[in-house]
Amino acid sequence: MTKVAIVYHSGYGHTAALAEAVAAGVKRAGGTPNLLRIENAAQDFGPFLDAVSASDAVIFGAPTYMGDVSVGLRAFFEASSKIWFTQGWKDKLAAGFTVGASFGGNKDHTLMSMIVLSMQHGMIWSGPGVPNAQINRNTDAGGAHPNRIGSALGVVTQADNAAPDVTPPAGDKEFGSLLGERIAKLAAKLKA
Ligand SMILES: Cc1cc2nc3c(=O)[nH]c(=O)nc-3n(C[C@H](O)[C@H](O)[C@H](O)COP(=O)(O)O)c2cc1C
Repeated sequence: MTKVAIVYHSGYGHTAALAEAVAAGVKRAGGTPNLLRIENAAQDFGPFLDAVSASDAVIFGAPTYMGDVSVGLRAFFEASSKIWFTQGWKDKLAAGFTVGASFGGNKDHTLMSMIVLSMQHGMIWSGPGVPNAQINRNTDAGGAHPNRIGSALGVVTQADNAAPDVTPPAGDKEFGSLLGERIAKLAAKLKA
């Protein structure tokens, strides 16, 4: 069974809703997701580091706060320096997702932070592999389509400041599921 760790932080629940969708995609592909929610920057990350080490792939998730990953995920990244010394995650598959209130919101920079961390560890970064939705944005106001914003680096989504069960919309969640599905399938191939 292909194991996919999903390490994420969520201040107000929107990234958490997306993480659930990513996990559903992993399951859809026959993989086993392990949802690891970071509660605060000061927690003991030892069990999370061990869980990632024991997984075939890792997917990082964070809201975009001030144009970058939120501090919870940043703290986990710093804690992972312990693994970096032995290059223990070398050749592991990695991917990421984020959510912001703006359509732009400098969210690519959040993904770049995840990519740099993954490259420092010698991991293999994968984008979602989902083409930009060819949609009329005036008729997609409800956000029914995956990749409506158009991101190739990772899953970029948008949420209004409403409850996480309302936003991000269904298309954004499906985008997250498609990433989970892809990573589980690719990890299984790499394992074989
Ligand atoms: C401190 C702070 C900074 C934020 N900075 C950005 C930003 O740079 N770009 C953006 O698009 N949204 C920004 N937002 C909005 C959040 O990304 C958005 O509300 C997101 O849905 C929060 O996810 P969460 O519920 O998982 O915490 C910011 C929100 C907060 C609280």
